[in-house]
Amino acid sequence: DRSIKIAPSILSADFADFGREIQAIEAQGADWVHVDVMDGHFVPNLTFGPPAVKAFRPHVKTFMDVHLMIAPVDPYIEAYAEAGADMIVAHFEAGPHPHRTLQAIRATGKKAGISLNPGTPASAVEYLLDLCDMVLVMSVNPGFGGQKFIPSSVDKVRQVREMIGDREIHIQVDGGVDPNTVGPLVAAGADCFVAGSAVFKGGSVENPAPYGENIRAI
Ligand code: DX5
Ligand code: ZN
Repeated sequence: DRSIKIAPSILSADFADFGREIQAIEAQGADWVHVDVMDGHFVPNLTFGPPAVKAFRPHVKTFMDVHLMIAPVDPYIEAYAEAGADMIVAHFEAGPHPHRTLQAIRATGKKAGISLNPGTPASAVEYLLDLCDMVLVMSVNPGFGGQKFIPSSVDKVRQVREMIGDREIHIQVDGGVDPNTVGPLVAAGADCFVAGSAVFKGGSVENPAPYGENIRAI
């Protein structure tokens, strides 16, 4: 299914009100809910452990993709699966054995994704694709919302789409996605877009209509 999906990142939500924020973005048309997990080691920021993800779960009616920006990642896969992730995405750069990591994610019964930092070439995923439901092309250096889109990501998306061929694998782009950057990414073959600041700007749980306008604008 190559229809376009918008996955708002709750990194840009009100941290005191995640349940209602998730309900609001879904009511406003979000296709997926994107959860950014950071460990203060692989990336210079800290966010959500498995208990937080477990608390989000009952509020998510759509599909929760959990983006693990943590290293090592293998020891935590089971815990994030049990917390209720629908898809678990690990970074190629998180350790020497991304192939084993994808096998471990698949073993939990969850969908599996591999993420590439901006400095990692598209070819990194070549021998991993048969274990992937999604490739995440990072279009900023992971760690923070609100950063500037890195234009070379478009070419990387094109190369990954070519490698995927006729396999059923999503390409997600994460970082600096907004109405100005999304067009060339769609043309290059991406079908799933994470957006934090571009979705949450101007809205709130009390005034959620801007979330919907922002989602439709992307
Ligand atoms: C970056 C995260 C992103 C981020 C996107 O480390 O993986 O999901 O929150 O935020 P924006 O859309 O504001 O760049
Ligand atoms: Zn993310």
